[in-house]
Amino acid sequence: MCPPEYYGIEYEINPWMDRKQGADRGLAITQWNDLRRLLEEAGATIDCMEPVAGLPDLVFTANAAMIYRDLAIAARFRHPQRQAEEPHAQAWLAERGFAIKSLGEDVYFEGAGDALFCGETLFAGYRIRSAIGGHQRVGDLLDCRVISLELVDPRYYHLDTCFCPIAPGIAIYYPQAFDGYGQRALQESVEELIPVAEQEASNFACNAVVVGRTVITNSGCPALHEALSKHGFTPQGTPLGEFVKAGGSAKCLTLRLDGEEAAGWKKK
Ligand code: ARG
Repeated sequence: MCPPEYYGIEYEINPWMDRKQGADRGLAITQWNDLRRLLEEAGATIDCMEPVAGLPDLVFTANAAMIYRDLAIAARFRHPQRQAEEPHAQAWLAERGFAIKSLGEDVYFEGAGDALFCGETLFAGYRIRSAIGGHQRVGDLLDCRVISLELVDPRYYHLDTCFCPIAPGIAIYYPQAFDGYGQRALQESVEELIPVAEQEASNFACNAVVVGRTVITNSGCPALHEALSKHGFTPQGTPLGEFVKAGGSAKCLTLRLDGEEAAGWKKK
């Protein structure tokens, strides 16, 4: 994670961001600390990246890279406003022993925000931020099956805003963020798909962090929490409204360094 010391709405690169509305940094710090505490209580160990003045979105560490074992596939951001984050994240990951791999300057790739394992399969979002060309390179690099999903609604511009694997074979999703092909691909390749309704999806319900059986989301997602409880998970909500103003929530504020709970390779 990366503390929100320099967090704010300083530019607009997605439909959620509004410089006029801004964000309350004091409240953001409280919300971030509460999320961190919940993650620790769920059993996670948190390692923090130094915040950097002038990089307000560095808090969204999910975009820094995609982690696979000791490999970090580095992000190449679409928007110049976030490209300055790249060297910081890469240096931090390299210091921790990750081998840094780049897909190439010409291929936009926004890390774990757009690439999530469910079991052995990597689900990868494209068009709004990441480019589809990178998916094949990731598949070749990791020797895994990749299912590319086109994101069709600008409000759900990263895959992790509309899809969240929670264990091998089980995931939550917001169907309308995908085209018909994407919806079918998900239905055919994930045994148990939990749909989220529009209202909770727009409250970032799908942007969940999974630690063991605990699933942490923004507050105000009662229907999803009920569904998760029925599936034997322990849902927890915590207010993250200040980050929703930048188009992010729980999941975006974290980067799993040991692999997502739902990643098949994590168990090996
Ligand atoms: N303001 C950031 C952006 O538009 C938010 C990133 C949220 N991250 C995520 N993984 N969904 O890039």
